[in-house]
Amino acid sequence: MIDQIHSNLFKPFFNLVGVKGKIMGIAIILILLLASLLILESEDIFTQVLRHEVEKQGISLAQYIAVRSEDFLLTNNLFGLHQLIKDVMNNNQELAYILIFNSQGELVSDTFGRKIPKELIDFNQNFNQISSNQDYSSKTFRNEGGIIHDIAVPIWQGRYGIVRLGVTEVYIDQALTKLKYLLWFSTVLISFLGIAIAYFLANLINKPLSELVTATGKVGSGKLDYRVSLDWAEDELGKLGQAFNNMTAKLQRTAIERRKLWKELQKKEERRQYLLNKVIMAQEEERKRIARELHDETSQALTSLNLALANLENTDEQKKFNERIKMMKKTIAKVLDEINLLARQLRPSILDDLGLAAAVENYIKESSKYWNEDVGLHINGLIDTTLAKEVEITVYRIIQEALTNALRYAEADNISVIINNREGNLLVIIEDDGCGFDLDEVMNSDRTQEHLGLLGMQERADLLGGELTIETGEGNGTTVYVNIPVNDTSIIEEEFDD
Ligand SMILES: Nc1ncnc2c1ncn2[C@@H]1O[C@H](COP(=O)(O)OP(=O)(O)OP(=O)(O)O)[C@@H](O)[C@H]1O
Ligand SMILES: [Mg+2]
Repeated sequence: MIDQIHSNLFKPFFNLVGVKGKIMGIAIILILLLASLLILESEDIFTQVLRHEVEKQGISLAQYIAVRSEDFLLTNNLFGLHQLIKDVMNNNQELAYILIFNSQGELVSDTFGRKIPKELIDFNQNFNQISSNQDYSSKTFRNEGGIIHDIAVPIWQGRYGIVRLGVTEVYIDQALTKLKYLLWFSTVLISFLGIAIAYFLANLINKPLSELVTATGKVGSGKLDYRVSLDWAEDELGKLGQAFNNMTAKLQRTAIERRKLWKELQKKEERRQYLLNKVIMAQEEERKRIARELHDETSQALTSLNLALANLENTDEQKKFNERIKMMKKTIAKVLDEINLLARQLRPSILDDLGLAAAVENYIKESSKYWNEDVGLHINGLIDTTLAKEVEITVYRIIQEALTNALRYAEADNISVIINNREGNLLVIIEDDGCGFDLDEVMNSDRTQEHLGLLGMQERADLLGGELTIETGEGNGTTVYVNIPVNDTSIIEEEFDD
């Protein structure tokens, strides 16, 4: 609420000038305020001190006249008395008048000539009275010439009369005017100096601020490599510049990382799309092959069986009958063999019937025979364990792919497969000591679309929440590590029903 009032109240002023203007404005206002306060204060103090001095001077002059006039009064030498006060008047220009009263209170001598201002005489009756035990009495009054200090001093303790004189403040006014001129002149001088210093300081502050404003604009428009150069400043602005640079560096790093991730994601998505297409195409091919096989082989065999059965109806002769039955049995056996082969090709039934260990063992036996190369196999912890079907098929397909790669490309002396099931974790290692390969190059090359084996292994492991790592390098052999959690069997089975 208060903040709102403040902002509404000061907003128009605040936005009148920039930071530079504000700093200079503050400096000028402060200097003027200080100068005015100083001038007013010193005028007051000076007036008091000078008034005191004027009064003191008046008293000593009055006392001097009192002492000097004793003899003149005693001898009633009015001429001498007059001469005395005339001399004093001439020598002290600050004196407005001198009056000498005798002991009866009659004015015996004055500096006015005949024109004695009546109020001064009247004053004597009710203004600045003095008793005999007082050294002096001082009163002030104002006339058209300014303030007058009327000072009364007794002559020989009042027995001969009283001296009264008026001291003007004309010198005080002159001194004060001089002082004021001097102070204002100094103020103007200091103001110029202050403005120059404020201008320099404002520039010093404004420069980094403008730089920061420019930098913010650049970074805002996407130039994340823009940096401010405020190394020379070690104050808060310098720290702000440093923090700004750190922030933009972080932003830049994040942006680069994001771009890299985005590219990787795009590439992965492309590969996934390709894989999916390939899977669909492979499925279609497989169906075509099955259809062809069923049509060409099985249905032809069944048609011939049908014909043979029709012929059988017309066969009366026992010998011919038996021969035809024998031929039909042969055809049925052939059809059965073909259907069995088809089923085995579609899915290794051994995997369903005897489990992962037996299926892998069988596959390695067949592959070793085909490639004419020995492959070592170590299986641990699979006896008395039933793995989920999706785990079995995934591991089987990964071993199939990794082993085919090793046999096809590695030119290795030793190839081995290790399966270790421990504490809810299935670890599979397919290792060879062959030529190895540059993994990054293969994974990032544009031709990855032609090599989908490694990617397929990765995808399969990912789908089961597992992890697949490949350690290889040219001349270093290849090791594929697959880690699959086997406790969780909640994976959708359909996906793996291949
Ligand atoms: N064990 C290995 N030893 C040496 N090179 C290998 C090994 N495994 C893979 N490679 C290299 O990595 C490449 C990619 O393998 P990947 O299995 O992804 O594709 P592919 O076998 O060429 O094709 P696909 O598996 O899709 O039929 C291979 O072409 C081969 O050069
Ligand atoms: Mg391959």
